[in-house]
Order: sequence, then C-alpha cells, then structure tokens
Amino acid sequence: MRVEWTEALESGVPSIDDDHRRLLELLDLLGQARGRGLDAVLVKEIIRDLLEFFKAHFEREELVMAEVSYGGLGEHRLDHRLMITSLGEVVAGIAENDLPVDESTMEFLVGWISGHLEHADKPLVADIRRLREDAP
Ligand SMILES: [Fe+2]
Ligand SMILES: [Fe+2]
Repeated sequence: MRVEWTEALESGVPSIDDDHRRLLELLDLLGQARGRGLDAVLVKEIIRDLLEFFKAHFEREELVMAEVSYGGLGEHRLDHRLMITSLGEVVAGIAENDLPVDESTMEFLVGWISGHLEHADKPLVADIRRLREDAP
C-alpha cells in the first residue's frame, strides 16, 4: 500500500502542512516496509516514530488552536487523543506480543489520517485564518 500526499490534504499553513507531509511519509515508509515483508525491526521502529511524531504534531496543532481560542479545540483534541490511544495499543501489541502490523491496521491508519486531515484539519485552518484576521 502506497500513501501519497495530495493537494486535497493541503491546509495552506506551511508548518501544519509540513507536519502532515511527514506523517504521510512515515505511513508510506511503514506500508513499504510491510510490503517487503522482511524487516520486522524496521516496521517496529517506523511505527514508534509515527506515534512520537503524531504526539508532537498534535501538541503543535493544539497550541495553534489555543492561541486563537478556537471553539472546536475540545472536540478536535478528543479526536487526537483517540488516535494516540489506538496507535499506542498497536505499538504495545507489537512490542509485547510481536503482533504484525496487519492490513486492517494499515487501512485504519491511512483512513484516519486522510479523513482527519481533510475533514478536521483543513476546516480548522480556515477557521484559524478567519479568527486571526478578525483579531484586533
Ligand atoms: Fe488535527
Ligand atoms: Fe494535523
């Protein structure tokens, strides 16, 4: 499974888009490492990197939301937390029981990221721009 950045995912805020590109790169690396079916150690490393990068990105994004007193922060943050919990469970399963990153996990990750970027982050950025323009 290949994962690619598309213009539909672009929010227009360079720092957020850079993070999102990196998230998709890591996910693509994960898909490729799985596809080669060989390097379980590499798969573990990539998925741990993905979890750490998710956490750092969510913190940065939530900071931007807090700065403009964004009304949807609570709901958006909850969505982030659910992802960290789900991905954390995947990482723990791999670490403790040597579970593989199976196809359904990949589909879940890809589906969540593309859905969240397009339907949560993109509208968020549009709202933030508006709030910044309205600021005194
Ligand atoms: Fe987000
Ligand atoms: Fe994001």
